[in-house]
Amino acid sequence: MPQYIDSHAHLFFEEYGADLQEVLNRAKEAGICAIIVPGTNLKTSREAVALAEKFPEISACVGIHPHDASGAADEVLRETEELTRHPKVVAIGEIGLDYHYDFSPREKQTEVFAAQIDLAARRNLPCVLHTRESMADTCAIVAETVRRYPAWRAGSSPRRGVFHCFSGTIEEALHVREMGFWVSFTGNVTFKKSTSLDVVRALGVSRFFLETDSPYMSPVPLRGSRNEPAHIARIGKMLAQTLNVEELELAWATTFNAAALFALNIPDAEGGRSLNSDKVPVLE
Ligand code: NI
Repeated sequence: MPQYIDSHAHLFFEEYGADLQEVLNRAKEAGICAIIVPGTNLKTSREAVALAEKFPEISACVGIHPHDASGAADEVLRETEELTRHPKVVAIGEIGLDYHYDFSPREKQTEVFAAQIDLAARRNLPCVLHTRESMADTCAIVAETVRRYPAWRAGSSPRRGVFHCFSGTIEEALHVREMGFWVSFTGNVTFKKSTSLDVVRALGVSRFFLETDSPYMSPVPLRGSRNEPAHIARIGKMLAQTLNVEELELAWATTFNAAALFALNIPDAEGGRSLNSDKVPVLE
């Protein structure tokens, strides 16, 4: 059975208040071996950590989303940094810039994003990036951080973070990779107007990974309903078809890459291989 990681699911939202255990059971049955839960502000970052403490398959990211940037005082950033010391916190996220909604003033978004990507680099953690209609400014801050911290998760193949829910162009995807970042795709690839399948084809099977962005971004034909990690296999099946590879191969490559970025140790049910990022080379 194909084994997947859902690299982005906001399971702390009230949408899951009544049936989270059932959602997790369905995920397990669908072959989801790990779920990454990114925070969006200090409160939900704490909730993400609490979920990670309760459920072994969950790991947490902590961070302030650009929508919540205006509420992020120095104190909030200090407490976010404190949370990074928790053993089940695997990344800073989600952080970035959102010029579509502009829920926080751009100046404040920029300040809070810069402070948090700096935190990721200082703590040598990967980061989960949210960027909407803000690609150029996001990339400028990322590039500046990489320049200031050349050792940030450096190695034979640096893995510094992921541009989540990627919907950019092929050129942008290649630029993101040059900076040592992954792209991940959600149910957005199944939307009629999406051009992401061309990006997937340009990248090939080993250069991206998957997420649901639950409770949002349900894949077609479930679009509009609450999303959940079990639905990741729908995205996997579609992209395997797009790339003309076996679903098992796509699942293995994407699971491997997400496990490498977030340093998850996942025993591979298929071949007994351990997906431990320290022991196996990255597929690139
Ligand atoms: Ni998100």
